[in-house]
Amino acid sequence: MMKKVQVITGGGSGMGLEVAKVLGTQGPVLIGGRTEKKLETALQELKAAGVEAVAMACDVSDKDSVAAFAKKANEMGEIANVIHCAGVSPSMGDAESILRINMVGTVHVVEAFYPLMGQGSVLINIASMAGYFVPMNEHLKKAFADPSDPSLVAGTLPLAADANSAYPISKRFVINYTTRNVVRFAQKGARIVSVSPGTFETPMIASERQSPDVDNIIKATPAGRAGDPKEIAWLIEFLCSEKAAFITGTDVLIDGGFTQLAARDQIQ
Ligand SMILES: NC(=O)c1ccc[n+]([C@@H]2O[C@H](COP(=O)([O-])OP(=O)(O)OC[C@H]3O[C@@H](n4cnc5c(N)ncnc54)[C@H](OP(=O)(O)O)[C@@H]3O)[C@@H](O)[C@H]2O)c1
Repeated sequence: MMKKVQVITGGGSGMGLEVAKVLGTQGPVLIGGRTEKKLETALQELKAAGVEAVAMACDVSDKDSVAAFAKKANEMGEIANVIHCAGVSPSMGDAESILRINMVGTVHVVEAFYPLMGQGSVLINIASMAGYFVPMNEHLKKAFADPSDPSLVAGTLPLAADANSAYPISKRFVINYTTRNVVRFAQKGARIVSVSPGTFETPMIASERQSPDVDNIIKATPAGRAGDPKEIAWLIEFLCSEKAAFITGTDVLIDGGFTQLAARDQIQ
């Protein structure tokens, strides 16, 4: 029987690494990311947990790099689940690199893996609750219609003034793009879903802690705490299972109640 391969971008740390530990019970795991040292440490952790894992350097903002990553995954066996966790936050890059990685990178991952995904397979894009707070405008509609637009990739399309506005826009795109792919995935018996985390204790959020916003959001979260990345892994385990066979083309919020409460407060 073909091995059921579990592919995880951004698998070297944070949520991606937790997902690798959980999905690694179902088949061999391929993790990708830019920093080889990070991947090596993650591999050791996965092997210690009894997971059969392989790592490959991959930059999701580079189409050829993602194509090579997808080729490697295909050589490992039948691709069961692709969990696209790779992403950067405002403290990790300027507006252009955030859009290139989070937005255009998501297109690269979906396009490279779509031809390789068969009946019962699932692709999950990690978005963010930040995407829920972005009002649409003409520039966004243009960029969302064609995220490979050269003027966008070159950073000349006036989409986001700075990194703080680029991040939520990039995540709004991920939610929107996931839904736009639902029919073609369904036609081959596959599913595509996005997951929008609230604030989770990962290296990314540690790097954002210089801003008081993070603590203010945690304080305003009805659950009264930040999320544990294991909770993302458990949600993804469910979304990849047969029990979630009717869930596709949608976004799943996992945010301790923050977004809907904020939306209600905006409406009332
Ligand atoms: N933590 C939160 O509160 C939170 C909230 C909402 C959404 N999210 C989203 O959750 C996802 C996972 O983040 P995390 O919190 O687990 O943080 P993390 O530990 O920083 O994980 C992100 C991973 O993505 C990789 N990555 C970054 N740029 C990449 C690129 N161009 N190509 C390939 N890999 C790349 C990073 O490794 P390299 O740098 O080595 O490439 C890193 O391993 C991200 O998409 C993030 O936006 C996080």
